[in-house]
Amino acid sequence: MTGSVGRVLVVVPTYNERENLPIALDRLRTHVPHADVLVVDDGSPDGTGELAEKIAEQVAVDSAHGRIHVLHREGKLGLGTAYIAGFHWALERSYDVVVEMDADGSHRAQDLPTLLGALEDADLVLGSRWVPGGTVLNWPMSRHVLSRGANTYTRIVLGIPLRDATGGFRAYRATLLRDLELDDIASQGYCFQVDMAWRAVRLGARVVEVPITFVERELGTSKMSRAIVVEALMSVTRWGIAERSRRVAGAFRRTTG
Ligand code: GDD
Ligand code: MN
Repeated sequence: MTGSVGRVLVVVPTYNERENLPIALDRLRTHVPHADVLVVDDGSPDGTGELAEKIAEQVAVDSAHGRIHVLHREGKLGLGTAYIAGFHWALERSYDVVVEMDADGSHRAQDLPTLLGALEDADLVLGSRWVPGGTVLNWPMSRHVLSRGANTYTRIVLGIPLRDATGGFRAYRATLLRDLELDDIASQGYCFQVDMAWRAVRLGARVVEVPITFVERELGTSKMSRAIVVEALMSVTRWGIAERSRRVAGAFRRTTG
């Protein structure tokens, strides 16, 4: 259904989020009743995918609210590819706005109207934990250090002004997603978030950050792993080196040409 920024689809990737998903969907329907939702489930062994289908059927009778849809994938194929699949699904159905949101309650549905409001003057709105007014509740010190460190490294290596390029609560205009050449994106894990922000900045898109409160999950477990951190570190480093060589080559052409 339609809001002031157009038809909104909230893409929610899930892997073993059986306890969390019903709560997250319920909150979404309370705070953004007009939005449709697409759950992208990677064959969760705990039955999250089937549960999502059941909830989707239950809410389908209520025409005043947005619909819930479910995309099932074969197995755990990574957060990045789950979102790409969700973005294609959205673009094929002509949504105007596509939102990324975790299923575990960390991203508060009550903050989503603010993100959507900011999209009126932007192409990409990042829910940011690390701008004034943003915060994280209940994280161990190790996660604070990891997130702050990853964001500082990203900002310096890529030379982009974003405070929270790794965050996963965001709203895209579909027009930007169409320009981003989604099929080129190889990032599988959470570095997908940096990849998307970095591509948007390079395209000259209007990227803005709005403060959010990130609340660490109470149920289930994080899927963050060492492999995901290593992929992110190596990718950002590689993109930074490529960008530096592009700049040097550009300067060289200017002085010799
Ligand atoms: N379909 C699918 N496939 N979903 C996945 C996968 C996957 O391989 N891996 C994770 N998810 C889902 C989870 O079920 C959850 O809904 C969401 O993606 C986020 O996963 P978490 O495991 O809860 O992430 P986190 O809380 O550790 O990390 C958060 O912060 C990171 C940066 O600090 C997330 O918001 C990340 O997106 C963010 O990059
Ligand atoms: Mn989480």
